[in-house]
Amino acid sequence: MLEVTGLEVAYGRAQVLFGVDLAVPAGSLACVMGRNGVGKTTLLNAVMGVLPARGGRVVFDGRDVTRMPTHRRVRLGMGYVPQGHETFAQLTVADNLRVTWEASGAKDRGAVDEALDLFPRLRPFLKRRAGFLSGGQQQQLAIARALVTRPRMLILDEPTEGIQPSIVTEIEDAIELLHRERGLAVLLVEQYLDFAMRLADRFTVLDAGVVVHEGPGRDLADERVRGLLAV
Ligand SMILES: Nc1ncnc2c1ncn2[C@@H]1O[C@H](COP(=O)(O)OP(=O)(O)OP(=O)(O)O)[C@@H](O)[C@H]1O
Ligand SMILES: [Mg+2]
Repeated sequence: MLEVTGLEVAYGRAQVLFGVDLAVPAGSLACVMGRNGVGKTTLLNAVMGVLPARGGRVVFDGRDVTRMPTHRRVRLGMGYVPQGHETFAQLTVADNLRVTWEASGAKDRGAVDEALDLFPRLRPFLKRRAGFLSGGQQQQLAIARALVTRPRMLILDEPTEGIQPSIVTEIEDAIELLHRERGLAVLLVEQYLDFAMRLADRFTVLDAGVVVHEGPGRDLADERVRGLLAV
C-alpha cells in the first residue's frame, strides 16, 4: 500500500536520509525504529509531504505521491499523527475533530462518533479546550483527529512517548484494534520493543539516515537487533 524507494531528504545542506527504502503492504503493521536523531520523524514527514523529498519516490496505493501536497495525501487515505501529541490547543475537543473532519472533505459524520468510541475518555471533555487535557488525552485526541478522515493507512510517530502508563495501554489497545479488527495498515515509529514485538509484521531500523536492518517482527527478540537499538 505504501512503497518508499531511495528516499533522500535534507534540511538545507544537511542531508538526513540517504536512500531509504520501506514497504508497508495493505493491512500490515510496519515499525520504524532507531536511536534518537537517526531520521525517523524526517522519514514520516517526507512520506506525508510535510517535508519535500530531494530524491526517491513515495508511492501510495499505486499512485506516485512524491510531489503531492499533504492535504491531498490525506484525501487519498493517509492519516498522520505527528510526534508530540499536537492538537489545536485553543479549540475545544469537539472543534478539533469537527475542523479536521470538515477540512478533509469527508461526508460521513459517523466518523467522528467512531473515533470517539475508540477513546471514550474524551467524551466528557468535548467542550473543554484541548490545551487543558493531559498529555495522554491530547494524544488520544490527536489519533482520533487523524481517524475522522477515515484513513486506510495510519502513520504514527512515537504515540506513547512521555505519556502516563494508564493511557499508554489504552493507546496501544486502540492501535491494535484498528490494525487487527479494522484491517488498517499502520506505519509506526516506536521505541517500546514489547509493543513493537507484539504487533509488528515487519520492522526497519534506521541509523544515521540509512536502513541498517529490516526483518519480520519476531526478529525484534534477536540480541543483534536489540544491540542496534540500545543507547
Ligand atoms: N528542522 C530541522 N532543521 C535542521 N535539522 C533538523 C531539523 N529537524 C531535524 N533535524 C535533524 O535531522 C536529524 C534527524 O531528526 P529526526 O527528528 O528525524 O530524528 P528522529 O529519529 O525522529 O529522532 P527522535 O527519536 O528524537 O524523535 C537530526 O540530526 C536532527 O537534528
Ligand atoms: Mg522523532
